[in-house]
Amino acid sequence: MKECLSLCLHVFSGTGNSLRAAHWLAEGFGWERSRLVRIGRAKAPVTSPAPDSLTGFIFPTHGFTAPCIVLRHALRMPRTRRAPAFIIASRAGTWPGFLLPGLSGNAMYLVALILLCKGYHIRGLRGLDMPSNWMSLHWGLSQRHAAKIIARGKRDIEKFAGKIFAGRRHLLSLNNLLELVLGIAFFPISAAYLILGRFCLAKLFYANWRCTGCGQCARDCPVGGIILKGNEVKRPFWTFACESCMHCMGYCPEKAVETSHPLAIVFYYTGTFSLAGALSAWLMRSHLLTVSLQSAFWFRAVHLLINYGYMLLSFFLVYWLFYHLVRIPALNRLFTSLTLTHYYRRYHEPGMIRKDF
Ligand SMILES: Cc1cc2nc3c(=O)[nH]c(=O)nc-3n(C[C@H](O)[C@H](O)[C@H](O)COP(=O)(O)O)c2cc1C
Repeated sequence: MKECLSLCLHVFSGTGNSLRAAHWLAEGFGWERSRLVRIGRAKAPVTSPAPDSLTGFIFPTHGFTAPCIVLRHALRMPRTRRAPAFIIASRAGTWPGFLLPGLSGNAMYLVALILLCKGYHIRGLRGLDMPSNWMSLHWGLSQRHAAKIIARGKRDIEKFAGKIFAGRRHLLSLNNLLELVLGIAFFPISAAYLILGRFCLAKLFYANWRCTGCGQCARDCPVGGIILKGNEVKRPFWTFACESCMHCMGYCPEKAVETSHPLAIVFYYTGTFSLAGALSAWLMRSHLLTVSLQSAFWFRAVHLLINYGYMLLSFFLVYWLFYHLVRIPALNRLFTSLTLTHYYRRYHEPGMIRKDF
């Protein structure tokens, strides 16, 4: 395999980990011969790679898979004739005294599969441990621990890049095989995340009483998932387009972006109610439905669709109500005091500032 003359990196990043990895790669290859394509709200034009160009995809893992926006971007890539490509999925490293690696599951394999179908020749796959940024779940890592993980990540990327840039492969490693096995095993979780979980997570964000309505979160959101609502007092409203990338939470200057844990409990009770089940029970009681019909395939498919639509609608309606309730200062303070993220340290890649995005 021959070496390439230019490098085109397709990057999606919420808190800067994947962007940092892209910078390491561009430094290693030479900035003057590298191009960064930002995956995000402004649909970047995807042009066919030059004959001697190497294509890279770098993005965070979400729900043991690739974020939806990355999958959509991969699907928009042009067809090629065996243009070389590599994929890096950054994942949640933590430091309980040693590096506890994250799990990217099928993230890099799904993107690799799409690129393979487009005619790319996959040269390398790598799960990259960077500090976990999932602040809805846990407090942000300390600067000291984050620095340790990032230093290791840099070494891993340099080793990986050395091989890929020299025209060698990095596919069959123990780590990649483990990710493949677990990626297949966790596929139902990833599918549930893409179909439903990400919408639920998007609707847990709100602004606490510290919010000044400056609109930075809406302007900077990489996927355009936040809109500012209100006439005099403007407050951010998270739409279903949100990818839960944590950019808003990590970079808000007022530390005003929260994930409401009490709301997650409400979603659990409202969202898991089976509307289709209640409807069919009512139809049975009214003798409009027979037991034999209930076992038909199409009946179960309709059942599933009704419940799916209902869940999305319930997330939207409950969030809409919640959004209006937390505009009342006293209620905002109450919900915020019950929300774990209020007590958590925030994280973004220590060297990355807003204008780097
Ligand atoms: C909503 C969400 C889901 C995540 N899911 C996973 C996961 O399944 N496995 C994992 O190892 N890391 C997971 N992470 C952690 C990120 O992939 C990781 O911290 C990544 O380095 C963030 O990169 P970024 O700063 O470029 O966005 C998740 C993070 C978020 C916000």
